[in-house]
Amino acid sequence: MKSTRTQVCIVGGGPSGLLLAQLLHSKGIDSIVLERTTRDYVLSRIRAGVLEQGLLGLMEEAGVGQRMRQQGIPHDGTLISYGDEKFRIDFAKHAGMPVMVYGQTEVTRDLYDAREATGGAIEFNVEHVKIHDADTDKPSVRFQVAGEAREILCDFVAGCDGFHGVSRKTIPENVRKEYEKVYPFGWLGVLSETPPVDHELIYANSKRGFALCSMRNANLSRYYIQCSAHDKVENWSDDAFWSELKRRIPQETAAKLVTGPSIEKSIAPLRSFVTEPMRWGRLFLCGDAAHIVPPTGAKGLNTAASDVHYLYQGLRQFYESGDKEGIDHYSQRALARVWKVERFSWWFSSLMHRFPDQSDFDHKMQVAELEFLRSNDAAQKAMAENYVGLPY
Ligand code: APR
Ligand code: PHB
Repeated sequence: MKSTRTQVCIVGGGPSGLLLAQLLHSKGIDSIVLERTTRDYVLSRIRAGVLEQGLLGLMEEAGVGQRMRQQGIPHDGTLISYGDEKFRIDFAKHAGMPVMVYGQTEVTRDLYDAREATGGAIEFNVEHVKIHDADTDKPSVRFQVAGEAREILCDFVAGCDGFHGVSRKTIPENVRKEYEKVYPFGWLGVLSETPPVDHELIYANSKRGFALCSMRNANLSRYYIQCSAHDKVENWSDDAFWSELKRRIPQETAAKLVTGPSIEKSIAPLRSFVTEPMRWGRLFLCGDAAHIVPPTGAKGLNTAASDVHYLYQGLRQFYESGDKEGIDHYSQRALARVWKVERFSWWFSSLMHRFPDQSDFDHKMQVAELEFLRSNDAAQKAMAENYVGLPY
């Protein structure tokens, strides 16, 4: 079996793994990324496109911020509607910073380009990945590529392989504790080459269910409507989607909605999930491998970024000074922020969606909370600070 040695073996070539690899490279720390699929497959996945300043800072630190600076769209606020009512949360006023609208696919593309430009080692189409001896100081990762058995000998393993990866399950069940909430609905998303209906995002609460009007650029819009958790894409023609979306947003907004053929249409389930701890020996979990949030607050990639920040700082400290303080406190530091983000995503999802067992009183409670948010600066400040991103 062919053995290769590196300092950090990164399982998973999504945004978490790629960002960590590029940051480590910027400090001369070697890594190898193992990706189950291919670059094109990873880039084919459509994901949210709202980036926190923390992620922007990490991309700049990794030397990958140029295209994002040129093509990203800063947003100083977001709109929230309920029925025909609409109000704005002013990020600049309440949180002193904007978010950046820039597709996750573009973040991942920029990271792949940077890895290739800097000679970063990535193995694609890996199979049968198995992490060995993570609870020793000589971990290794075995896998196959095109039927050939391979082995990576390393100092550390970063489990960046998403919710369905192998890293989390490498931690023994009697060590792991998992927390989960599955929401009784999904999101039906459509991408269309049409101008966005507004210059900011619109999160809509309606008696018919949640809707979201988002965008990628001036001629590429992303829309979502809440649907049954058991719904199927084939149940939704484009016309049916547009008609339902118009029923869930304020009529003056619906009147100016430009519709068009969907170039992508998909349904995503909603869940909140956290596994503790995020570290076992020399194995560190990052991103979706450790936690999942409902997309309502656009926190998936942004929380993966804060994990990467804590792990990068810990590994950098270890290699620069031998100090293990950062890696020994990684799980505790990452989870402290993860749980705050889980709370915000759960709060915003609970506020904006129609639950199957929701009574008229329950809906009145949602409207009362939206009215309070609309009228109270402290409530708006709390929302804005969570939305733009809590400090690392
Ligand atoms: N071996 C190697 N690679 C694997 C394995 C495995 N056993 N299992 C999964 N992978 C790969 C997947 O193919 C995927 O490319 O790991 C990668 C994990 O990427 P994501 O699921 O995107 O997770 P992450 O990088 O943590 O991204 C977190 O960005 O992509 C979004 O929805 C995601 O918002 C979340 C954030
Ligand atoms: C998106 O543009 O896909 C998007 C934006 C904000 C969200 C979720 C998804 O909260």
